[in-house]
Order: sequence, then C-alpha cells, then structure tokens
Amino acid sequence: MQTLNVDLGDRSYPIYIGEDLLSQAELLRQHIHGHQVLVISNETVAPIYLESIRRSLGDLHYSELILPDGEQYKSLEVLGKIYDRLLEENHNRTTTLVALGGGVVGDMTGFAAASYQRGVNFIQIPTTLLSQVDSSVGGKTGVNHPLGKNMIGAFHQPQCVIADTQTLSTLPPRELSAGVAEVIKYGLISDASFYRWLKGNVDGLLACDGDVLSEVIRRSCENKAHVVASDEREAGVRAILNFGHTFGHAIETAQGYGAWLHGEAVAAGMMLATDLSSRLGWLTVGDVNDVRQLLQQSRLPVQPPTMSCDQFLSLMARDKKVLDGNLRLVLLKSVGEAIVTSDVTTQQIKATLMAAGVQS
Ligand code: NAD
Ligand code: GLY
Repeated sequence: MQTLNVDLGDRSYPIYIGEDLLSQAELLRQHIHGHQVLVISNETVAPIYLESIRRSLGDLHYSELILPDGEQYKSLEVLGKIYDRLLEENHNRTTTLVALGGGVVGDMTGFAAASYQRGVNFIQIPTTLLSQVDSSVGGKTGVNHPLGKNMIGAFHQPQCVIADTQTLSTLPPRELSAGVAEVIKYGLISDASFYRWLKGNVDGLLACDGDVLSEVIRRSCENKAHVVASDEREAGVRAILNFGHTFGHAIETAQGYGAWLHGEAVAAGMMLATDLSSRLGWLTVGDVNDVRQLLQQSRLPVQPPTMSCDQFLSLMARDKKVLDGNLRLVLLKSVGEAIVTSDVTTQQIKATLMAAGVQS
C-alpha cells in the first residue's frame, strides 16, 4: 500500500492506494470517530462491494442507503433522500458518511456531508478509475442542475480516501477509458514526463495491469494533491484541473447528463482546448496530433457531438470560471504547462469548434 498526504493544515488527510484495501478493516475504522455511520452507495456498486464494508464496520452502529445509478441522479432531488435518511435516523454532528462508488456517489455524499447540520465527516471509497485519480481527492462536492453541470456544491474535504485498485477489475471498459481522460489531463497540464510515460503504458493501463494502475493512481493523486494544497478553493492555480472541462461540461449539459460520460466529454474538450492552444501558437501540429493519438489509443472520443457553435458558447458562458462576464479558458502553453487565460476571442473559439465539425 502507498500512502499520500493531502497537505491542508488541520484539514489534511491520507490517500491510501493499493490492492485489496477493502478487506483491511482498520484502515476505515480508524477514521470513524463518532458512533453513527451512514454508508451511501448505488444499486450497481453495492451488490459487489458493500459486504466488505459491512465486515469492516463490524459491531459499529451503521446503516446503508442505496441510490439509483447514473449521472442523471446527481440531482437535488436524490440528494434530498440522503438528508431524509439522516434525519429519520437522528444522525447528529458526530456522524460519518461513507461514500462507496464512483464520482457521482462521492460528489453527492460529500455535499450531503458538507451541508448536513452545517458539516459532518465523510470518507471517500472510490471504485472507478476516474474517482480514484480525481473526484475523491480535493474536496469538491456537489450536484448538477438541469441548466448546468456541478452548479450547486461546496468545498468539503474527506477524512481519508481509500483507493482499492482491485475494485477496478469489475469496471466496464468504457468507464475505465473515461478515467484515463483525467489521467492524461494531469500529464498535459503539469507533468510532461508522466505524459511521455503514459504514451508507452496506456495499453497496460487499459488492461488493468496492477503495477501500471498503482503508478497511474499515485502519480495522478500526487499531481492533484499538490495543486489542491496550494489553492484549496480555486482562487487561482486549481482552475488548471479544469483543462478541457469548459467545453466538456457544455457537451454533458447539452447531450443530457449520462449520455456522454464525464471523462468522454473531458476528452473531446481537451482535444478542443489543445487545438485552440495551437491556434494561439503555443503548441505545434505535432503536439496536437500526439494528443489526439493518445486519446484515441485510450478509446476516447476526440470530436464533439453534433452541436452548434451558439449552443457551445451559451453553455460555456455559464462556466464557473467566468469572471465579470469574461470567459476564462484553461489552455496549454506547452505540453505539461497549463495557463488560465481570458485572452481568447470568440472568433478563435469558433474557429476551433468549426474545425472539429461543429456547425456555425
Ligand atoms: P460514476 O460515479 O457514474 O461511475 C461510473 C459507472 O461505474 C456507474 O454506473 C457506477 O455505478 C459504476 N461503477 C462504479 N464502480 C464500479 C466498479 N468497481 N465496478 C463496476 N461498476 C462500477 O462516474 P465516475 O466516472 O466515477 O465519476 C463521474 C462524476 O465525477 C461526474 O459527476 C463528475 O462531474 C464528477 N467529478 C468530480 C470531480 C471532483 O473533483 N469532485 C472531479 C472529476 C469528476
Ligand atoms: N476536477 C477539478 C478539481 O478538482 O478542481
């Protein structure tokens, strides 16, 4: 097992990465401080992994809540079911919520923990590659609104993250690829040598090779933890973690939540942001082709769905990075170096969209 630390003063916490961690009861139990626990999972993950959590919790007083599975259920309505259960069972401020599942379960459980009685503890047990490399770390929690992705939420850090790589053995290949998109993101925004290493190891990653998986999760979490430690609430540099997301969130919202997986939309979004970076003279055509090839090798989309430029631009105008009406985009100065800039014209964005087949 490897242990990383997210360094946030009195909100610091460990990320445990390794095989078969769900069977190590003490790993979970040492982070539960009160006498009440609510384990939250979904109808797909619970039948496979909830039993291990039950064994770890043993004689502790706990209950379980199983949510419907899907991005379309990451909503205020389903969130309400968590509050209902907490109140029905008289959970108090010392309760601990345990999120067992992918990013949807993690984001919703985290937001419930952030807001129930103004904040209770929670633990992340991510079971998708995407949630192990990204969403379980850093304390962003929330739900979608029909008009915009992740628009309602809070920053709330977990007590710990337990990333058991064994759980990825049951993950459908399409979901694994979606996680690879966020892995490639770290290489592109801040870690050129990781990006180069990935190009030679992506096949091992897609085959769930244990050593490759551990290295990918460790390196991704290290990159994320470093950024989060220097800018927990996204006043500045943390925005680079949103590379590809301004385009990607527009795709997810336009297509209807769940039609495109989050990682797929991010992949197509990163391709657009990479193209735009080259139009600004920062990347070569060779760099752009290289990124396209790695995404394709990872079985990820490199083109957006059928949408109009106006649809893209109006959804992108709701992005959380918009400041005083100005769109800010995360672009690449070079491979391994991202910047946040508002110095891009609508015409330049349209040129990128139209080159990718988006109608004017
Ligand atoms: P997800 O939670 O929908 O999980 C993907 C699918 O895999 C689901 O059907 C799930 O039931 C299933 N699944 C999960 N673990 C499994 C396992 N071990 N075996 C078999 N099936 C399993 O999606 P995701 O890709 O994990 O997360 C995407 C969400 O994360 C989005 O809502 C996105 O906005 C959010 N996100 C949040 C952050 C953050 O910082 N908070 C960062 C990135 C993404
Ligand atoms: N995934 C973006 C962030 O955590 O900031």
